[in-house]
This record gives sequence, structure tokens and C-alpha cells, in this order.
Amino acid sequence: MINTIGVIGLGVMGSNIALNMANKGEQVAVYNYTRDLTDLFVKNNEGKSFRAYYDIHEFVQSLEAPRKIFLMVTAGKAIDSVINLLLPHLEANDIIMDGGNSHFLDTERRYDELKAKGIGYLGIGISGGEVGALNGPSIMPGGDQEVYEKVAPIFTKIAAQVEQDPCCVYLGPKGAGHFVKMVHNGIEYADMQLITEAYTFLRNRLNLSILEIADIFDEWNQGELKSYLIEITTEILRKKDEITGLPLIDVILDKTGQKGTGKWTSIQAIDNGVPASIITESLFARYLSSLKEERIVAADILAGPEMEQVALDRSTWIENVRQALYLGKICAYTQGFSQYKTAAETYGWDLPLQDIALIFRGGCIIRAEFLNTISECYQKDPQLVNLLLSPYFSEKVKEYQPGLRKVVCEGIVNGISFPCLSASLAYYDSYRTGNSNASLVQAQRDYFGAHTYERNDRPGTFHTNW
Ligand code: 6PG
Repeated sequence: MINTIGVIGLGVMGSNIALNMANKGEQVAVYNYTRDLTDLFVKNNEGKSFRAYYDIHEFVQSLEAPRKIFLMVTAGKAIDSVINLLLPHLEANDIIMDGGNSHFLDTERRYDELKAKGIGYLGIGISGGEVGALNGPSIMPGGDQEVYEKVAPIFTKIAAQVEQDPCCVYLGPKGAGHFVKMVHNGIEYADMQLITEAYTFLRNRLNLSILEIADIFDEWNQGELKSYLIEITTEILRKKDEITGLPLIDVILDKTGQKGTGKWTSIQAIDNGVPASIITESLFARYLSSLKEERIVAADILAGPEMEQVALDRSTWIENVRQALYLGKICAYTQGFSQYKTAAETYGWDLPLQDIALIFRGGCIIRAEFLNTISECYQKDPQLVNLLLSPYFSEKVKEYQPGLRKVVCEGIVNGISFPCLSASLAYYDSYRTGNSNASLVQAQRDYFGAHTYERNDRPGTFHTNW
């Protein structure tokens, strides 16, 4: 028993997590279902603190008890296969951890099955891509707390560190960690789409060059919009295509892919009754983008307005776009955090919203300066119903909502679609409407289906013979 932790799955993420652990002083056992990736890992990482195994029994036997085994394999059936492969070799109190993007309900099923066998199971959200996995990701653990405590020293060591705090905090039982990661990705989709819409305005309405836009993003990244996604967008816009010499962004096909986590976030929001329209809209924007062939046909058939020829004042409109983007981001993160709040109530989890914001400050894809502010809002008021209602954000949105309105209006008038900015404004305006006309839908439901309605002047349930 010579190894302190085992890693199964030597794709890029698994390899980098294993190296990260080895670099932080763990003695790592590595195993991959097929030999080729193990051979490659051994060849590329000579002299590092790991041992490679080609036999699952030897791999398991090499681990000190309780055995800690970290899986970094493709989410879905592969996880169940690896668990089944491991089970005959494990003993009570051993721990399996799933670091992939598993659906939290799959994690809960696996947790239950393994708990019945005396094996600890943790669903661990990991964010940060390849570089994060190697140098410090954001880590979102869920499962039994006493099981987590046994591996906590390893995770807090390999996680990104912000102001000496590890971006890793125990989040709650069973699938809580993977739930938090799922919604992180939903927010990621929305954030990426909002940035894309800001870019669209600057490019298609203000007619700025790609390099001018890169400089604007660079400048925004020095202020309250500072974030990893803005930073990489700047670099993306400055990148030239090696084949044609054109800006690389102009030769990338405009069809966005997806692996499912944004879809799960949207489905979950719908199931739990959470208005996550910006996140959902960002998913639909990806779906629409993939209808490339249809869009090309439609472009010749469907009319839009003539683009207005008035020259817009450059600096005024750059500031409008900045404000629109920031307010859009506030609304998108608000929807994500509302999803956490509702999930906590629905599933009986005690999700630490303040800490979730803190562990998102480093390592993960949505890391951003304003997560500090989000965390402070929850620290000041742990019962905060909605982030928009916090003193800081309610003031900020008051100041920035004119910018968002102007940008969305320009899009509407000129036929440029801004799905997430529009959804942000609709969410904001709907949420601040104390007395809405939802009464009309209620009346219609009662008219055709006798679904009944409540009144605003007395208690009870009513039906009218229309
Ligand atoms: C992360 C990323 C990571 C991955 C997503 C991308 O937090 O490190 O979110 O999980 O990049 O799977 O998802 P799509 O392929 O669906 O865009």
C-alpha cells in the first residue's frame, strides 16, 4: 500500500488532475481502461510522483486504506462500468469520487447503491478546463460530509487559491456538488452568449474592427467586468488564422456545440419552477446557431428592417454596451443563484450560497471579479431572496438599466437579435412588476377549463360562469 490516491481516466482532464495531485505531494496511482493513454502518460511525465498500473486489482491494492479513487471518465455509462470494475476489489469505507460532469440524479443513484455496500461516494464538480485541472481548478464536492473530510486535505491543496483561500468547499449531501457544477455551466452558457451579443453590437452596429473590439474588451477587463471569459475573448479576437492570415474568429463556422450541461440546467429550472430565461435562451441561441443551412436559406427569404444610417457616438455607445453586458451578467448570475436557492429548498440541502460565490472566484470558467460582491451580498444577508434585491445590485441596476434598454432597442429597430440581453431586460422588468397582467391568463384558464382563480381582495378559490 504505497499510493495515497488513485486516478482512473487519463484523458487530458484526468492526466492533469493526476499531475496536479502529484505536484502537491500525493503519491498517485494511475489507471486507464485502455493501455494507450497509460503508456502516453508514463512517457510524458517521467520523474513525477506517480505509479501506473495496467491491472485494476493491482491498482486498487496499491492504495492505502481507506482507498481514495478519483474517476475522471466520460459522464454516463462509462462511470457505471468503472464502478462495476472496481467493486469486487474494494472494501467497506473505501471512497470513489466522480470528477466528471455527471448529472446530479445519476450521482444520487450511484451514491445510494454504493452506500448500501458500505462504499463512500462523492460527486465532485470540477471546473477550469485543462489548465485549471493542472494548476488549480474550482472544486465543488457533494456527498457525506464525513467521507468528504477524509479527502478534503487533497482537494483543498490541488484547488485554485484566491487570497489564500482554496476554491473548494463542501457543498452538501449526495448530488449537491454536481448540481452546483451543472448550474455553473448554465451560467457559463449565458455569460458566453452575453459577451457574444456585446461583441455583435460593437461589430455589426458600431462597425468597429475586430482589433478595436479586442482593445475594448481588454479595457473592460480592468474594471468591474473583469473575468476569465472577457480575458479569453480579448485573446480570441487578436488571434490570426495560420492558414489564411485572417482573424481566426472570421473563419470559425458559426455553429455552437454543446455537451449537455446547459440543457440539464434549463430542464432542471423548468422542473423546479425557476425563471432561468437567460440561461435557457443561451441554450436556444446555440440550437438556433446550429440551424446554419436553414439560416442561410432564410436570410434570402425573410425581410428585416433597413439598418439605420445615423452614425452612433462611439464612446457613448461603447459605454451603453458595457452597462448592458454588466446588467445582463448580473441578471444571469441572479437566475443561477436563484436556482441554487430553490434547489436547496426543494432537496433539503443547505447550499452555502456565500461560499459558492467564493469558490467561483478562482479556477473555474465563470471566475469573475464581481463574484466577490455576490458573496458579500449573501454574507450580509444569508436569507437574500434574489440578488437583484441586494442593496449593491439594486443600486447598480438602477444606474445601468438605461444602457441595457438602449442596446436592446437598437437591436430591435435594426433587426439584430440579442436573445440574452433581451431576456435579461424582460426578466428585470417582469421581476420588478408588482402588479402584472398575469390575471388575464388566469381568467382565460378559468374560462375554458374551469381551472379557478384566486382574488386579490379576499381569500378563497373562485370560478366564474363566463
Ligand atoms: C468547466 C467547463 C467544462 C466544459 C463544458 C463545456 O467548467 O471547466 O464548463 O465543464 O468546458 O463541458 O460545455 P459545452 O461543451 O456544453 O459548451
